[in-house]
Amino acid sequence: MAAPEFKIPRPHLGEPYLLTPGPLTTSYAVKQAMLRDWGSWDDDFRGMTRELRARLLDLLGAGKEAFDCVPIQGSGTFSVEAMLGSFIPRNGKVLVLANGAYGKRTAQTLEYLGRAHVVLDKGDYLPPRGAEVAKILADDPAITHVVAIHCETSSGILNPVEEISEVTYAAGRKLLIDSMSAFGAIELKVADIRYEALVSSANKCIEGVPGFGFIIARITELEAAKGNSHSLSLDVHAQWAHMNKTEQWRFTPPTHVVAAFLVALRAHEAEGGVAGRGARYTRNRDVMVAGMRDLGFEALLKDRWLSPIIVTFFCPSDDNFAFDRFYELMKDKGFIIYPGKLTVVDSFRVGCIGQMDEHVMRQVVAAAKEALAEMGVANAAPPARALEERAILAA
Ligand SMILES: Cc1ncc(COP(=O)(O)O)c(C=O)c1O
Repeated sequence: MAAPEFKIPRPHLGEPYLLTPGPLTTSYAVKQAMLRDWGSWDDDFRGMTRELRARLLDLLGAGKEAFDCVPIQGSGTFSVEAMLGSFIPRNGKVLVLANGAYGKRTAQTLEYLGRAHVVLDKGDYLPPRGAEVAKILADDPAITHVVAIHCETSSGILNPVEEISEVTYAAGRKLLIDSMSAFGAIELKVADIRYEALVSSANKCIEGVPGFGFIIARITELEAAKGNSHSLSLDVHAQWAHMNKTEQWRFTPPTHVVAAFLVALRAHEAEGGVAGRGARYTRNRDVMVAGMRDLGFEALLKDRWLSPIIVTFFCPSDDNFAFDRFYELMKDKGFIIYPGKLTVVDSFRVGCIGQMDEHVMRQVVAAAKEALAEMGVANAAPPARALEERAILAA
């Protein structure tokens, strides 16, 4: 059966598409929702907060009644810090599964918070696997929590959170998931995978604008979190208890961002929820990766690990290729791409999320082809060193 066609209007003011993993290209309707002002204390806005929390919980599917949703002002990192500080008791110990910048940031946050932790660092992109997590947990009975990054946005790898969840709970420990760049496009149904809490933010796969993040946590964990937090403003228990009592945020809420997010949430539902959104992003990725491969580019990850969120490509070895020039040429053609974060070889990233469809992705590939021609790059193949690096990634 042919994939459904999406016709998504171009950015209204003619600005470039953001092929970045949030902030991302949002719909005009989402931006338009920010044109009116809301009283944060008023009943109408309280109703909006109520709807936002209920709609986010709906994405967990059957069993959602055991969970609640707590929005927190600030960027995604604020919510990650809130989750870690609130759910990990001061005498807890964390195993951080790191394979990129966001895993490392979690470890750094725990350092600030003074929570004991060990890091399984897999380097730039190798996935943490169930068996090695099980071994670390068996060898260190003091570990109480495991923190996993769902899509490690720095490489685009989709980490095997189901496998990690199984071994974590088989060892009697608890799992917290940073699903910042994946939630809303990749299922985290509580009937299928066990975890205590997840964190994401407004400007990722739900396609809102930046301004707040949210934690979705098991109610028993929210109750038990009282008194754990090191921080007044990032205390998830306090925000939750206050919101349940008053339907208000404890401190000034990003009212316009909330209004925009509700429009984004309704559009997410209309597109078919997590499955529909994930299908569009997957198609975006497949069309873009196939086109880039036709031009000679090579992706960092084997298909098994490619997320539908963002894809890392190696920079071509051709001497005429310079990333900064490529970036400018792509921007002139209407597309903002993202520099790479690999430490061993040069790379760049192309996001698949936001208000765009496969037609846009074909234009992205056409723009890359033109940019290569303008730079005088005859072949987009990467250096041999990059392919050796990739060969390390087990199937
Ligand atoms: C997996 C992951 N965790 C945490 C963050 C941090 O979010 P923010 O940059 O909004 O603070 C990001 C941002 O892209 C992310 O992708």
